[in-house]
Amino acid sequence: AHVSFDSSALKKFVHANELGEMQAMVTAADEELRKGTGAGADFRDWLHLPSDYDKEEFARIKKAAAKIKEDSDVLVVIGIGGSYLGARMAVDFLHNTFYQAQDPADRKAPLVLFAGNSLSSSYVYDMIKLIGDKDFSVNVISKSGTTTEPSIAFRIFKQRLIDKYGEEGAKERIYATTDAKRGALKTEADAAGWETFVIPDGVGGRYSVLSAVGLLPIAASGADIDQLMAGAAQAEHDYDNPDLSKNEAYQYAAYRNILYRKGFTTELLENYEPNMTMLAEWWKQLAGESEGKDQKGIYPSSANFTTDLHSLGQYIQEGLRNLMETVVKLDTPNHNVNIPEADSNLDGLEYLQGKDMDWVNTKAYQAVVAAHTTGGVPVMTVHIDREDEYTLGYLIYFFEVAIAISGYLNGINPFNQPGVEAYKTNMFGLLGKPGFEKIGDQLRKEMNE
Ligand code: PA5
Repeated sequence: AHVSFDSSALKKFVHANELGEMQAMVTAADEELRKGTGAGADFRDWLHLPSDYDKEEFARIKKAAAKIKEDSDVLVVIGIGGSYLGARMAVDFLHNTFYQAQDPADRKAPLVLFAGNSLSSSYVYDMIKLIGDKDFSVNVISKSGTTTEPSIAFRIFKQRLIDKYGEEGAKERIYATTDAKRGALKTEADAAGWETFVIPDGVGGRYSVLSAVGLLPIAASGADIDQLMAGAAQAEHDYDNPDLSKNEAYQYAAYRNILYRKGFTTELLENYEPNMTMLAEWWKQLAGESEGKDQKGIYPSSANFTTDLHSLGQYIQEGLRNLMETVVKLDTPNHNVNIPEADSNLDGLEYLQGKDMDWVNTKAYQAVVAAHTTGGVPVMTVHIDREDEYTLGYLIYFFEVAIAISGYLNGINPFNQPGVEAYKTNMFGLLGKPGFEKIGDQLRKEMNE
């Protein structure tokens, strides 16, 4: 398999019988998910997205990506949360670490930049400066079309497109990924005649990376979306068995539930590859937004190794014992580098000369698993054998299905996110959005403004 789950380091924390004891609950959770008897059943269309997607749209995505490659040096992808993180992590995962700084001729694809994922004015200003006179296109991604951050960014970049190419020229450079029928962006796109792609109704933002939401930016970056879908389709096939002994995604879900009940309430997703930092950000939304509700749930966090072993490592080894770790360990790097021989041993590295860096990286991983286990932190590992599209598709599906099962195991609706609205109501009140005047007045009073 391209992705394999390793629980061998859990022996100190989980008895041999415990996984089997979870089978009845896992079977029930699987039934809720597959038969749609669980909460949030309307949002399960991601389950079959890899095998049952809109082929006509998929072909249009590839065509649009080819056009963007042809006429643009930069693609500005505008979106936030579920309309951002999947594409961002995939572009990082699938490219040369310094892809953004590469010579355009070597990159052979436009630079993909992400906007609308914060309210930082400097970020937008810097991006405008970076684009300069270069040719660019925009892919705006928003299910609702009314999310503040992407709406502001889109207004800015749309205006710049119109200024540079005129109304007609801009029309050819705006791609809107949004709801099939409803919403402000859909209405605007139809009125303006932009090409549109669909965020399917039954697919929530955090489960949308294998829809047009992720696929267009990923394809435009030069990655192979056929392989991405092929890997995910294989995982859809491999992870459909409720039998825990045969389903490693379900094993992961069951173990994290066992550990959660023992007080390991924070999970760190870890990597040993800097271009997987955003993988953890994507996973944090998937896990946190799915599971953190009804005053319970594992808190998803992350750490980047070996970097953070020199900082967070102290806490992980000896701090409050509520941590568990899941390492995504790359077993074969795309490129390996030898440690050269030197004339002297002044740096004390003679014992490593002739070895390669990945061997050292893997020894570090093994040493960390042993140390953290001794320190009282359970460690699970998801091994991936390479960093390519097929493996990423497989890995995405592994986490998606595992988190859905985890949610049902913990008795919550894994597919809603009622809690993300609270701050928005306050913000709209403070910004003076029509309809939110009362809450604005109340907040200003509380803040003595
Ligand atoms: O998962 C979610 O619901 C959020 O992260 C949304 O994806 C995010 O707020 C963006 O929403 P929209 O696509 O409507 O702009």
